[in-house]
Amino acid sequence: MHPIDPEFEALLLYLKESRGFDFTGYKRSSLMRRVNRRMSQVDAQSYPDYLDFLQVHPDEFTALFNTILINVTAFFRDTDAWEFVSKEVLPDLLAGKPEDAPIRVWCAGCASGEEAYTLAMALAEAMGIEAFRERVKIYATDVDEEQLAEARQAAYGEREMQSVPPELIAKYFEPAGNRFVFRKDLRRCVIFGRNDLVQDAPISRIDMLTCRNTLMYFNAETQAKILARFHFALSEGGMLFLGKAEMLLSHGTLFTPLDLKRRVFRRAPRAMPLAGAVFTEPAPIANSSVLGLDELRNEAFAASPVAQLGLTSDGLVALTNRRLDKLFRVSSRDIGRPFRDLELSYRPVELRRYIEQAQIERRTLRVTDVDFHRDGELVNLEVQVTPLTGLDGSLLGVNLIFHDVTAAKRLQDDLELANQQLEAAYEELQSTNEELETTNEELQSTVEELETTNEELQSTNEELETMNEELQSTNDELQNINDQLRVSTARLDEANAFLETVLTSLRAGVAVVDQDLRVRMWNKRAEDLWGLRSHEVVGQHLLNLDVGLPFEQLRPLLRNAVSERGENGEVTVDAINRRGRSIVVRVACAPLHSTDQEPEPEGAIVVMEADDV
Ligand SMILES: C[S@@+](CC[C@H](N)C(=O)[O-])C[C@H]1O[C@@H](n2cnc3c(N)ncnc32)[C@H](O)[C@@H]1O
Repeated sequence: MHPIDPEFEALLLYLKESRGFDFTGYKRSSLMRRVNRRMSQVDAQSYPDYLDFLQVHPDEFTALFNTILINVTAFFRDTDAWEFVSKEVLPDLLAGKPEDAPIRVWCAGCASGEEAYTLAMALAEAMGIEAFRERVKIYATDVDEEQLAEARQAAYGEREMQSVPPELIAKYFEPAGNRFVFRKDLRRCVIFGRNDLVQDAPISRIDMLTCRNTLMYFNAETQAKILARFHFALSEGGMLFLGKAEMLLSHGTLFTPLDLKRRVFRRAPRAMPLAGAVFTEPAPIANSSVLGLDELRNEAFAASPVAQLGLTSDGLVALTNRRLDKLFRVSSRDIGRPFRDLELSYRPVELRRYIEQAQIERRTLRVTDVDFHRDGELVNLEVQVTPLTGLDGSLLGVNLIFHDVTAAKRLQDDLELANQQLEAAYEELQSTNEELETTNEELQSTVEELETTNEELQSTNEELETMNEELQSTNDELQNINDQLRVSTARLDEANAFLETVLTSLRAGVAVVDQDLRVRMWNKRAEDLWGLRSHEVVGQHLLNLDVGLPFEQLRPLLRNAVSERGENGEVTVDAINRRGRSIVVRVACAPLHSTDQEPEPEGAIVVMEADDV
């Protein structure tokens, strides 16, 4: 037994009151495990915390119910049991019904529908498709609406279909994309609906009821209630098919096993015959001509190990034996006395009314469980009151027989106790078995979840792989462009180097300027002439350079060169070289045109030729 946790119970009560979901009848161990699992997913530290969380996040109810209601299922789950049902139970059930009588089946706790369609296939196989369509109604119910919605689709993937034999797939399913859909004409015979086994009324006049791997989630008390409803739901002789871990504990009066191993039971009739207290009268002793028979008879009577007392029809003591004397101190001395005057007539049990009744009804009565203290010892008696009749049917008297059943009673008590202990141990075992099975289902459900996650990861992986391939190809393209750029750069470097060589080899100083007259190039000879290095000059305004060249005289020439007209011009000026010597310099300006023949020059080339360095 799981100890009661008031905080957990408060949570269950909240679920019941706010959402009408009554989980109070579910086994605590599994239930707590499931709730704890959900709590850890939302990071709730305690049951009250989680209750608060539920109040703030109404969507959480669905997630919680999905976690609690384990819906592991499969087509033909427990093949061996289904084989037995198909081969033995269904033919038997059909044989017991008139040819065209409707067959009503209830699949309770149907989850995503596999069990209901398994039933449909098994029945259609047993009675033929045509008869199935006309006669069968399968009511498939569950408390979980999401599962029911899935079941109504009747479409299953390759994984679910693995447990359906190929010939049945071909006969009962139609492929649709990568799924298999249960035949529409037969699908109509399966009616899905919500039914809470704990709270809702059962469906009635059922011939076959399957409730597999669902009862085991409930505690013994709730199981008992549900089973009583199942008994009501089933028609006389109807069949009940449970899951392999489920047994009918202490409900032997409602159902009798048809095959215990496969968990198939038959509904027991409503009223069980009562154990009767009616005994047949002994046959009359035939007359005999044996000599000394009376004495023999008297002695046999007197020596009987069972205490006996014979009364006449008007209630006088007529016969006693030794055992009677020993037990009650009633002996031959009392013969002729009215029985009602003896203590024995009312102690240890009131016998007079039984004697009267036996005489009136002319039948043997039995008074059981009579306790009697004799010499400090407790004796347990069973008193048999038999009316004695003559051959002509007239009443001769009454015979009282006092059976000492103390030893038998003790044995019976011991047996009963042992039985109870056995039953308790058995129930414990059964409960453990169910517990194991629920844990198994929980594990299975976790495995399924992991498989789904795995599939999702796999698909993400595939997407990543595709992206990777795309990136790889983009990378290749970039690499190509890079290679081309490298080639171009190398060519450009080559061209630049060549230009550098040309410019260096010239005897004249050369400066290239842009439209704003900022220096773009300054050759070696220009460095030698004016004493400024290329890196000091490039980017500077040519006319601002601090060199001994009279730029003022060059300005018109330069403007003409960079103007739209792009005119060439030449001038000879006096200048001071880097060493401070006066020199004469011939300066030629030419417009600089880019190769694509832009009409406007993009700068100018200034060639400076000195008569001396
Ligand atoms: C483990 S599945 C069993 C499915 C199927 N019967 C089988 O054996 O393969 C248990 C089902 O019982 C349903 N269930 C749980 N509590 C229920 C209730 N109170 N009333 C009806 N169905 C319930 C769950 O929603 C779930 O679909």
